Amino acid sequence: MRFDLPTSWRHGRGLAAHTGDVLSDLGCSRTLLVTDRALVDGGILAPVITSLESRGIEYVVCDEVTTEPTVALFERLHQKWDLTGFDSVLAVGGGSVIDAAKGLAIVAEFGGHIRDYAGFGAVPAPLSRKIVAVPTTAGTGSEISDGSVWIDEARRTKFLVLSTLICPTVAITDPLMTRSMPPQITANSGIDALTHAIESYLSVDASEATAPFSLRAMALIAGGLRRAYAHGDDLDAREAVQVGATMAMMAGMNAHMGLCHALAMPLCGLYPLPHGEACALTLPYVLEFNAVVAGDKVADIFEALGLRASDGAGDGGGDGDSSAYARLTRFANDIGLKARLGDLGYRDEHLEVIVRETRNSAQHRFNPREASPEELAALVERMI
Ligand SMILES: [Fe+2]
Repeated sequence: MRFDLPTSWRHGRGLAAHTGDVLSDLGCSRTLLVTDRALVDGGILAPVITSLESRGIEYVVCDEVTTEPTVALFERLHQKWDLTGFDSVLAVGGGSVIDAAKGLAIVAEFGGHIRDYAGFGAVPAPLSRKIVAVPTTAGTGSEISDGSVWIDEARRTKFLVLSTLICPTVAITDPLMTRSMPPQITANSGIDALTHAIESYLSVDASEATAPFSLRAMALIAGGLRRAYAHGDDLDAREAVQVGATMAMMAGMNAHMGLCHALAMPLCGLYPLPHGEACALTLPYVLEFNAVVAGDKVADIFEALGLRASDGAGDGGGDGDSSAYARLTRFANDIGLKARLGDLGYRDEHLEVIVRETRNSAQHRFNPREASPEELAALVERMI
């Protein structure tokens, strides 16, 4: 067993207003503030900027990360921002912002192109620049994770840079920073986090160290997500989901994911489907598929989610309206997640691509039950 958590995680309401103190304590005096223009325009960054100024930290704002990071974005930012003059990268934003900041920090340190660092272990040494992450969404877990996801448009694929050497030095989670997150992003990022908690619990790499984080994360996220979606200013709900999301990734980066994440890669490549919606779509079917070999664990999951049904959970379930699987689907529907492949332009010829890419995905091997091509095809057909 191996349990890594290189990031120092600080959490509290109003803590983002102490970001300058954190950077100062790390010995940093000049930082590149990577963010999203919409957050700047919305005034979300104000407490962070005030704290930088009060501690005399020089900063330059790079507010160009408005979508998931792409290779084109990397090339533009890399050309524009010479990171050699900065001792730190401060990422304030969603997972895309934090992922982009990690990529910039790697290339500032070791040169080359972000593509050179694709895969596991391509980052050669610890970074001298500090990475501080202040998330404004609650879901991806990038504020503590070892991953940075990039879209390579030219090659029509996504790639992942994975290394514990790129975990942020400090993560500051502050529910006040997530208060303005729109309902749809709250739902998408929240269900992503819930899927991290569930898949890490079922993973073949799950351990005594990761399981408690997975289970508690499920309870926190399931307990808060509907309220956070419907009442964005409910700080208790926001905080439950936010803490749960970071805990889910503490388990996730050590135990890894499974079949939902393996399926999400080709599904999000083929259709206009956000990652969280792909998680919501696949989760009930994958859980039912896994229950055949991990029935006790699936029962634990429904218990933690508060969705346990005497007639469904953990015994292979079924599609009846009263089953726990149907309750899980209703939970996703309640927060506006209703995607079906049939509505997204699914065509029969896609099936072969989805099956092949899912089987080739690194995530598949952590799933407790290997899915044969025929079993995968049957699963996908249920999602139409
Ligand atoms: Fe995810």
